[in-house]
Amino acid sequence: MAHGPVPGTDDVVGSFVPTTAALRRGSPSSPTLEAAFDAFRLRYPAYDATTHLDALRATEYGRIDAQGHIYLDYTGGSLYAASQLQAHMDLLRRHVFGNPHSANPTSRAMTDLDEQARATVLAYFNASPEEYTAIFTSNASGALKLVGESYPFARGDRYLLTFDNHNSVNGIREFARARGASTTYVPLTIPDLRVDEARLFAALDQPASGMHRLFAYPAQSNYSGVQHPLEWIAPAQERGWDVLVDGAAFVPTNRLDLSTWHPDFVSLSFYKMFGYPTGVGCLLARKAALARLQRPWFAGGTIRAASVRADLHYLHEDEAAFEDGTINYLTLPAVEIGLRHLQAMGLEAIHERAICLTDWLLSNLLSLRHRTGVPLVQLYGPRDIRQRGPTVSFNILDPQGAIVDERVIEKRANAQNISLRTGGCLCNPGAHEAAHHLSRETLDGTGEGPQRGTREHCTHVLGLAGVVRVSLGVASTFADVYRFLEFARTFLDSEPDMRDLPPSKKC
Ligand SMILES: Cc1ncc(COP(=O)(O)O)c(C=O)c1O
Repeated sequence: MAHGPVPGTDDVVGSFVPTTAALRRGSPSSPTLEAAFDAFRLRYPAYDATTHLDALRATEYGRIDAQGHIYLDYTGGSLYAASQLQAHMDLLRRHVFGNPHSANPTSRAMTDLDEQARATVLAYFNASPEEYTAIFTSNASGALKLVGESYPFARGDRYLLTFDNHNSVNGIREFARARGASTTYVPLTIPDLRVDEARLFAALDQPASGMHRLFAYPAQSNYSGVQHPLEWIAPAQERGWDVLVDGAAFVPTNRLDLSTWHPDFVSLSFYKMFGYPTGVGCLLARKAALARLQRPWFAGGTIRAASVRADLHYLHEDEAAFEDGTINYLTLPAVEIGLRHLQAMGLEAIHERAICLTDWLLSNLLSLRHRTGVPLVQLYGPRDIRQRGPTVSFNILDPQGAIVDERVIEKRANAQNISLRTGGCLCNPGAHEAAHHLSRETLDGTGEGPQRGTREHCTHVLGLAGVVRVSLGVASTFADVYRFLEFARTFLDSEPDMRDLPPSKKC
């Protein structure tokens, strides 16, 4: 399905460029929600095929509007539908479930449902059970840690990753370093925060003396929304790399088809896809790659046998070797319920809607200017919807062009029941440092001390501001983004009120 705006309508219909008269008045006028929506639909005709999602918003997600929320933090966590809870509670109410992996009836019943959930996860991602297995973890970070701690890094081996990565991917470098492997970061291009492909392939081609090479990148950035190409997977593998794709921010609004793409590992958290349950994530692993991992320990549930007297243990040969202790067994059926719910809503419709709304939001946000001529927003990442997802990070600028403290934005958003994310670096320091042109020299020269890592340190010593992030997802509507844009307009031509800001956060 074609997405994005109808060609030729850019900045004509549905665009909120203030008129000269409005600018003269000092407060730009804006169309009503209804008029803006009419113009939006003309510009994005594909949106009309997603209107069944508005009906679901009213029923399944009715509590959002009943409580007057404007929820814009789907990259932080998605929202769950009422029927997901109902189906899960009904299941628990109707049955007696015991700890899985025994032969008794209550245990068998649970084991069957948990294995069914595992099979549903594989089927959802179109992953052949011959090629892939799904390992349940507590979240995406747990999946990444499993790879990091078990990857057979040794002296001469390499860990290659993009500057744009969540800290849970960055953290794998500590495992690499501890075992003598080198870590290399591929830089980002400014201002779109994409990867410099020439530099990436030069790094992939660099010879290494070791046997093992791991390349990790996010399918979608949690910072800029950039979608890094899945087309890198096969060429990297052909060059001898194991490829870890962090899918956490990508899979909530995009199809990841593992019959088309064959990464060695994929990390994700289910709450980011469908809100409930929290506490469950997954490592999708190619069985051939999984066989190369070496677990650093064993635990209950991971072994066929262990002996104290003989000091030996035999790990299971499948995913069980990677699931420590008792899995979150009562919760796993809710994963299946959530995946079926997403399928029923239509992931393609969710995707289409999210990109139409994001493109509209971007073009309108970027068109706003103070009377001084200074743009209202400094955006970090691509300015249109091509190869990006519905995650938008930016700073609001004051009429002189200085960044408005993100805590001012947060405080005013909170007062309007708008849930957006603000933060030092959104757990993605590489993208943040690239976006803010922060050099190694600046970071190195700031010394140690208790202030290091505080907001004051970031702002005053590093000159580094925090950012604001809005992100869309499964239950987003036009009204959400319209209201956010109206909120953004309130910063036009106004000086920030720095009184009563919340206490400093860590970078
Ligand atoms: C791209 C990405 N990777 C990994 C994570 C870590 O997810 P979790 O906190 O659920 O472990 C996040 C969380 O926001 C993320 O956005």
